[in-house]
Amino acid sequence: MTTRLLTSEHISEAAHLLRSGELVAFPTETVYGLGARVFDERAVKRIFLAKGRPSDNPLIVHCAEKADVKSVSSPLDARTQQIFDALYAAFCPGALTMILPKHPNITDAVTGGLSSVAVRFPEHPVAQALIRAVGEPLVAPSANRSGYPSPTTAQHVLHDLEGRIAAVLDGGSCEVGIESTVVNILSDPLTILRPGSITQEQLNAVALAQGFTPFVYADVGKDNQMIAPQSPGMKYRHYAPDAAVILASSLQESFELAKNHHPALILADAAFANGTSILALSEQSLYAALRTADEQGFRAVIIVCDETIQQNIALMNRITKAASRR
Ligand code: TXA
Ligand code: MG
Repeated sequence: MTTRLLTSEHISEAAHLLRSGELVAFPTETVYGLGARVFDERAVKRIFLAKGRPSDNPLIVHCAEKADVKSVSSPLDARTQQIFDALYAAFCPGALTMILPKHPNITDAVTGGLSSVAVRFPEHPVAQALIRAVGEPLVAPSANRSGYPSPTTAQHVLHDLEGRIAAVLDGGSCEVGIESTVVNILSDPLTILRPGSITQEQLNAVALAQGFTPFVYADVGKDNQMIAPQSPGMKYRHYAPDAAVILASSLQESFELAKNHHPALILADAAFANGTSILALSEQSLYAALRTADEQGFRAVIIVCDETIQQNIALMNRITKAASRR
């Protein structure tokens, strides 16, 4: 199969491909997603083949507007409806994914057999236009080969999936750069299953104003085992390039480490970036930098996690996973 590179002028062609059961990658504000129609079970299953993704790792359903939720979720109880409405008003469309009870029409291929479904409302105009043109929600995992860093450009998608999918819609570089914050609003207390650019503090401002107890992280303490469902995706290794990923606590330490891992690419505070062997580190740039390391044949990526970086829970989550061995 030849993978076509389409621009935002070709939304109707991309929608036509999706309606014919093909897979099309598209930009969102977080990372590129690999889209299929949520109600096309054959296409949904092909996503797992194209990515090499374990079938028990469920997909996020992407909706264009709030009313679309009725077709993918069963009716919400009063408590869930209240927090859903409040979080939607505060953060949607945007980089927030909410776990809801699944509609009977949603197949196990989407949810990995769970009784819940993950729903998100992307803000990117190309994503919104595509969902509207197709006329129904799209499932979309990040459009990378499973285990590799998520794509933040159309070229990253082609690198991983060329020949395996019908098309990729090019919308330039993703603004956020890391995946959405995933929250379970069915649990008590409310839980954060995957940290993202929408922070615990921002979520708690909404929860507290609505009279809820604060959000907790799903993996805090082993005592929280009863908080279900966990995010199945979190057990897999993620975001890792072929080069070894090594953490340093200061620039000085990174230079020491670099001597033993030649050639090494250093990711550090933008103030130190020199465009060749030291690249600027941020949510927006992390995945592209990890891919650059492989493209340019670096043996190691040394990431300087100074205090500012350590305070960014979402970024540290991705860095730690990238650094854990396969
Ligand atoms: O920003 C994003 O969320 C991107 C863009 C494309 O929208 N998508 C994305 O999808 O990151 P993916 O498939 O790479 O990650 C989905 C995460 C996984 O960790 C998965 O386990 C979790 O969401 N998830 C999906 N459905 C779930 C459910 N019903 N319960 C708990 N976790 C769920
Ligand atoms: Mg992913």
